Amino acid sequence: MSLVAQSALDAEAFADYLTVHENKSLLRFLTCGSVDDGKSTLIGRLLYDTKLLFEDQLATLSSDSRKHGTTGEDLDFALLVDGLAAEREQGITIDVAYRFFTTEKRKFIVADTPGHEQYTRNMATGASNSDLAVILVDARQGILTQTRRHSFIVSLLGIRHVVLAVNKIDLVGFSQARFDEIVAEYRAFAADFGFETLVAVPLSARFGDNVLEPSANTPWYDGPTLVQHLETVEVEDRAIRAPFRMPVQWVNRPNLDFRGFSGTIAGGTVRPGDAVVVASSGRTSKVRAIVTADGALAQAGAGEAVTLTLEDEVDISRGDIIAAADARPEVSDQFAAHLIWMVDEPLLPGRPYLIKAGTRTVAATFTEIKHKIDVNTFQKLAAKTLALNEVAVVNVSTQDPIAFDRFSDLPATGAFIVIDRMTNATVGAGMIDFGLRRATNVHWQALEVTKASRAEMKRQKPVVLWFTGLSGAGKSTIANLVEKKLHELSRHTYMLDGDNVRHGLNRDLGFTEADRVENIRRVAETAKLFVDAGLIVLVSFISPFRAERRMARELVEAGEFVEIFVDTPLAVAEERDVKGLYKRARKGEIKNFTGIDSPYEAPESPEIHLHAAEQSAAEAAERIVAYMLDNGYLG
Ligand code: ADX
Repeated sequence: MSLVAQSALDAEAFADYLTVHENKSLLRFLTCGSVDDGKSTLIGRLLYDTKLLFEDQLATLSSDSRKHGTTGEDLDFALLVDGLAAEREQGITIDVAYRFFTTEKRKFIVADTPGHEQYTRNMATGASNSDLAVILVDARQGILTQTRRHSFIVSLLGIRHVVLAVNKIDLVGFSQARFDEIVAEYRAFAADFGFETLVAVPLSARFGDNVLEPSANTPWYDGPTLVQHLETVEVEDRAIRAPFRMPVQWVNRPNLDFRGFSGTIAGGTVRPGDAVVVASSGRTSKVRAIVTADGALAQAGAGEAVTLTLEDEVDISRGDIIAAADARPEVSDQFAAHLIWMVDEPLLPGRPYLIKAGTRTVAATFTEIKHKIDVNTFQKLAAKTLALNEVAVVNVSTQDPIAFDRFSDLPATGAFIVIDRMTNATVGAGMIDFGLRRATNVHWQALEVTKASRAEMKRQKPVVLWFTGLSGAGKSTIANLVEKKLHELSRHTYMLDGDNVRHGLNRDLGFTEADRVENIRRVAETAKLFVDAGLIVLVSFISPFRAERRMARELVEAGEFVEIFVDTPLAVAEERDVKGLYKRARKGEIKNFTGIDSPYEAPESPEIHLHAAEQSAAEAAERIVAYMLDNGYLG
């Protein structure tokens, strides 16, 4: 599974490496710890002691050590691993670096992940590709907040094998008492994390004690060295044991006679003749052939990229999952999940996001934050939003149903990432707990009197006139004038005004970001109902966020949404201060006031842009009615 694409992997060298050591088993692990625990030094030590360093890398290393050196005349292994210039200067690791090395018994890929607090995202990336985690602690510092957090995330991301590397044991005089104390504390808090193996090793990455060879300095320790353990630990491959799953990457149709479905097998194995099902539609068929660049296969399994042909003509598109017919994935448009939030911008329930699960991308909202989890104490806390690095249990609602497995059964089809619709950035990573069936007994009721017939009776085209702008910009004044004119023209209208709706439907909402998102979501849904009733709906809300205005637009059909930006400079609105609210906001008596201490995101391409400071409200209203006439809204 890959939550986020791997970075910094030298593909060519990696391919060579895999060929040479083809027959050895492969262990992928990640290292995590806080900034000074010595992760990079440990990885450098592993590479150095397993003699996989090339001459020129060694030359660079010794000259760098002298330049940046924090280790006197010794080689500074951290410099070898910390590839990025920035982190050398700051002394922290800021991206995931993948390294590979080998011993007689096994080959290894190690993800070096950042310990600095704000880089949870990179850690999740590294963890998502790993079978085992080496969690480093500095023997002098013991268990830190980051140790707990990293262990929690490692457990959350499905890693079941952990090594507690108690590093810098030389700096506590190789003390067994100190080692035992740290291990006892760690075991106590990690008891519920579901780790199948947890081995603690006292070591010194800098001097090599208990890294490859047992150290004479720790005669009291009779467990394996780090490398001995990594060479022998058994990590079962859950993906291979899972039922067959292949998310379709693309439909391969070079000519009319061939139709293949290409993708990487996410779980289980497949053979020609196997009965399969298309998860989303429930259509079944049998596998005819498994095609690869090297010819047809008799069998293929998790991790292999193949093209399947089927016995029947079945409708399958990119994003569908082809699965074993007798062990289908769940299909639902609502599910519960654990979520890690990865950006400064908070998660806001009700706001539309995209989620990408496997090869499928769908629009989704988080309908509820059940609770967040304090990653230091593991307590459950109530929350309305999620901030950077926070973890929560959430309910997710997707626009269309998606097929998935529980993350604990198969991470490859149980994980998703969250994408911001405005910036396209990855903002969160999720692990699906289970599908929610709550709403599946609610179906759309077919109505015989339609929107079109209702609109026709009123001889008008239903539309939302969405007024947005600062408080005191003049939205309601202009909207009132427009409604009066429409009324004179015998049009059927309804007005939704922020101040009024906040006295009824939305009386439970305040002015935090989260409440404003919910405020606009409810109003947008209400406007949609009124449009369905055939009405011209005037909506006058500050509606400060682009994401929610876009959501309101997408709820109705094309042409049914006219965004009107009442563009009044803050200074002018504040000068008017009809309700005296700006004055109070400046004094700090009102918090989160738009334009003062809460943002307003101006529309980028509104249908109508009114410069309210330069024209009267009557002129502005005139212009809107003219727009409606010109665009056929008034019949
Ligand atoms: S919105 O941001 O959620 O769209 P809405 O239009 O419903 O706001 O309500 C805005 C009205 O609430 C303002 O015109 C003003 O009268 C009043 N108000 C009270 N407190 C605030 C605040 N902190 N920020 C903005 N408007 C406020």
